[in-house]
Formats: sequence, C-alpha cells, structure tokens
Amino acid sequence: MIGVFDSGFGGLTILKEIRKKLPEYDYLYLGDNARAPYGTRSFDVVYEYTWQAVHYLLEHGCRLVILACNTASAKALRNIQQRNLIQYKDPQVRVLGVIRPTVEAIRDYTQTKHVGVVATPGTVASESYVIETEKQDPAICVTQEACPMWVPLIENNEHGNAGADYFVRKYMAELLQKDRLIDTIILGCTHYPLLLDKIRQVTPDNIRLLSQGEIVANSLADYLVRHRDLEQTLSKEGNCRFLTTECPERFSESARMFLGEEIHTERIEL
Ligand code: DGL
Repeated sequence: MIGVFDSGFGGLTILKEIRKKLPEYDYLYLGDNARAPYGTRSFDVVYEYTWQAVHYLLEHGCRLVILACNTASAKALRNIQQRNLIQYKDPQVRVLGVIRPTVEAIRDYTQTKHVGVVATPGTVASESYVIETEKQDPAICVTQEACPMWVPLIENNEHGNAGADYFVRKYMAELLQKDRLIDTIILGCTHYPLLLDKIRQVTPDNIRLLSQGEIVANSLADYLVRHRDLEQTLSKEGNCRFLTTECPERFSESARMFLGEEIHTERIEL
C-alpha cells in the first residue's frame, strides 16, 4: 500500500488528488488527530510523533509513505530518511514529503520570482521553503507568513464562519505588505485548501494561489515511473482505508467535507 500521513485532516486534500491521479493503488491514510495540531510543536516532538506514525504505516503493509503534512515534512522527513530508514529491516521502503515537489513546481508559475508562502509557525520557523528554493533556484525570493490560527479554525469546523474572515484578512495583509512583488502564493499547509475561497477574496487577482494536492500527485506519479522496483511491489486494487488516533466517528464526519464522500474510519493507538 501507499501510506499517507498527516497530523489530522489536512492530508486528505493531498490524498484526494493522489487518488484522482493514481486510482489503481491501495492507500492507508493515518491522521494523528489526538495530537494535532503539530504546527506549534517543537522540532523534536514533531519528529518523534511523525516517526511513530510512519513506523506504524510501514509495519502495516506500506512500502511507500507520503508525509502529506508540511510541518512533518519540514521537521521530521530528513531525520526519518537519514536515521530511521537506513536501520529499517526493509531497505526498499521510502518516505517522501510535500515541500520539495512544491518548490520544484514554483518555477513554472512565478514571473516576478517573488513568491509568498503561508504555513504553520513550525514550517515557517524551519525555513524549509526558503532553503529548498535557494537550492532549486536562488533567483527566487521567498517571503513567509505564519498563520497559527488557520489550522485550529479548520480542525474545529469554523473555517466557513465570520471569525475565519478576520484571520484570513490579517495574515494575507501581513504577507502582502512584506513584499509587493509577490505574484504566486503557496498554500504551504495541507489544511489551507479549505480556506481557499476566503483567501481568494482578499488576494489581488494578479496573484496566483497554489494548492499542493495536484502538484504532489503529479510528482508521485513521476516518482513511481522512475522507481519501477518499488512500484511493482505496491498492491493495486483501488482500496483506501482510514485510520485515526482520535474518535473515528468524528473523523469520518469531518473527512466528508474534505473528500466529498462517506468513509469508514478505524481508531488506532501509536
Ligand atoms: N496540515 C499540516 C501541514 O501541512 C499541519 C497541521 C498541523 O499544524 O498539525 O503543515
């Protein structure tokens, strides 16, 4: 199976696009809702929690795991790849994140080479988008804005309400004031597509808003073509199972608004 991990519901926006692009594979989604949000947690804690979740997915039949969470990709991916996977009993398993594919895609969109990133405080503090962009194209200038209130608003199903308008306007205004040449803004948190309509309303028309779902799905499809040995070991019956560390009924209910379909969820402990 292909494992897809997020601290909570946000990774469902990535899973949805991946399944649209690659429906033939089997997926196991894990949301660590009991310990979400991760965005304000320390580096060590995000790493510890993320590895526990990845380890669970590997032990339960996943040979490829996508960290569909920018915070986990920023704070845990490198350690998992360099410390945990090299000691893991199956040397062929792989864990991939969402930041590198997003940065690789930026070049196709920005004309001014001024890019904005809205993300959790953890992702912003890690500077992962700045560092990765510098590696890919040093001519691109990245300006970041931490949006600590957005994930809690979404996780509490308040993102459609007036309270959310205030925080969307506030963080977007702060970002755009810092760099007036921005022509592309990355929604650098997998929860944020749920705020897309509100974000669009306060963003000038000439600025493009980039969600990660399609970018990550395209990048995964390309990865599977380039890694045939791993690809051939993945099961392909078009199934998808959902796991959460919190209440499964609540997960299924909220997942409906992310996926637009009814699902069954099982509770696990990490
Ligand atoms: N969806 C996660 C991300 O992409 C973060 C949510 C959280 O703070 O747990 O960063």
